[in-house]
Amino acid sequence: MTLKLTARLAAVASLVNPGGTVADIGTDHAYLPAFLVLEGRIQSAIACDVRKMPLENAAETLRRFGLSDKISLRLSDGLDAVLPGEADEIVIAGIGGTLMTEILSRAAWLKAAGKHLVLQPQTHSEDVRRFLCENGFRILCEKAAQEPGHVYGVISAVYTGAENTHDEAYYYVGEMPQSESAEGRIYIKNTLSRLKKKAAALRAAESDTETVCRIEKIIKQIESPEML
Ligand SMILES: C[S@@+](CC[C@H](N)C(=O)[O-])C[C@H]1O[C@@H](n2cnc3c(N)ncnc32)[C@H](O)[C@@H]1O
Repeated sequence: MTLKLTARLAAVASLVNPGGTVADIGTDHAYLPAFLVLEGRIQSAIACDVRKMPLENAAETLRRFGLSDKISLRLSDGLDAVLPGEADEIVIAGIGGTLMTEILSRAAWLKAAGKHLVLQPQTHSEDVRRFLCENGFRILCEKAAQEPGHVYGVISAVYTGAENTHDEAYYYVGEMPQSESAEGRIYIKNTLSRLKKKAAALRAAESDTETVCRIEKIIKQIESPEML
């Protein structure tokens, strides 16, 4: 039996290193770990969710695909119930960037060699990138995936211990310019249009000129030939 992922989850799956043990945080139906095991890319996974209902959905997926012995289900707020030695590939997808940074900041054990993060924030990606860079993680690459009405970004990162601060513009587009894909370019264009709308709204309200100037600077940086 095969399991077909959406373009977004397929992009997440493509950045998971094969052979590792995955902890999928906020797993819901456990489609991602189920796909990875069915494809033979990983041997086992821990599928975590903070709510019981999604874990029941996940149990149904595991039953349907005969994966109950390969994927364990765990009630966990973020990574709180995952031990440092239990996973080397940590996936957090489909949740907001603010919650994502809270989850990452509570798991100090991620700051170690051999831990690889695959992150797909639904919102506030800039906060996730800023958190990673300010906390010694290095963004290795990014991938964009297009679905009707939305382009999603996926971040691959590891801990190096070296602080790597960047221009504010980097936090909005990260390594996406290097992805050199059509979806990556759309991701950058969408980010630009979101920033322009925000600046226009603030300008119209004649409020917070400092923020308007800051956003306009970011827009200019993103529109530079190296970024587009
Ligand atoms: C929109 S679903 C995403 C499912 C899947 N990861 C994906 O990308 O398709 C978000 C899931 O995250 C779970 N979630 C929300 N906050 C969480 C937390 N603090 N810890 C673990 N799971 C959480 C929700 O219960 C829900 O099942």
